[in-house]
Amino acid sequence: MLTQLTALTLLPAFCLSSLLRPRQIDTSAHCGQWDTVPAGSQYTVLLDQWGASGASSGSDCARLTSVNGNMVAWETNWTWTGGSGVKSFTNIQLDDGLNKQLSNIKSMPTTWDWSQATSGKIVADVAYDLFTASTPGGANANEIMIWLANFNAGPISSAYGADGQPVPVASNVQLAGQTWNLYSGSNGANNVFSFLPASGNAITSFSGDVNGFLKYLTTNEGLSTSQYLVTAQAGTEATSGTATLTTSKYSLSIN
Ligand SMILES: *[C@@H]1O[C@H](CO)[C@@H](O)[C@H](O)[C@H]1NC(C)=O
Repeated sequence: MLTQLTALTLLPAFCLSSLLRPRQIDTSAHCGQWDTVPAGSQYTVLLDQWGASGASSGSDCARLTSVNGNMVAWETNWTWTGGSGVKSFTNIQLDDGLNKQLSNIKSMPTTWDWSQATSGKIVADVAYDLFTASTPGGANANEIMIWLANFNAGPISSAYGADGQPVPVASNVQLAGQTWNLYSGSNGANNVFSFLPASGNAITSFSGDVNGFLKYLTTNEGLSTSQYLVTAQAGTEATSGTATLTTSKYSLSIN
């Protein structure tokens, strides 16, 4: 009788405490070139310093701040000197719901609230970076970027004006409550579509449906609806300078 009672009273107490206890997360700083930090069951923070060898000096760290359901907070601090190319794309990667054909995606709701502290001039962007492929998990065929900010950087473009500025393939496109210019070009390996804020101003509080951008491209730019979405990341492509990017709220899911 006593053991039965104990079991009955302990079980609900245990369940309640495991529900109330926040998931244990690693909030320490990670600075390795390819470090990864699990962020709940849906996301991973990726260091991804793929162009670090192009820098004469520098480093880049990231740490997870909190995970609350599908809402995550994280930050990255970086400093890079030398070279003209991107050094790092430290990002939060979605691990859930990928490898769907574009024709089967109903929506991709997202929220991204961020702020950035810089010292001196920086060259960087703050952007979503998506890839599609011809097969689930296949080789990248198209890259789709949604830039929320352009700090002295520029999108890949197949056309440039006499002023040296990239020429958009579409201007003043209304999506997710914002106005965008769309650029298109090749990075040598795949097509790249880049949506940039038409105003040139940073969008520091963004929410909307990322699928709207994919639909725009399948309707207007020949992106095939039979492509599979294989990667969905959001972070900062850092070329030079010193900055700390703080994401206070981020979520993305694929329905
Ligand atoms: C970033 O922050 C970490 C942890 O506070 C620190 O160890 C590192 O030196 C910083 N790196 C840069 C590039 O500011």
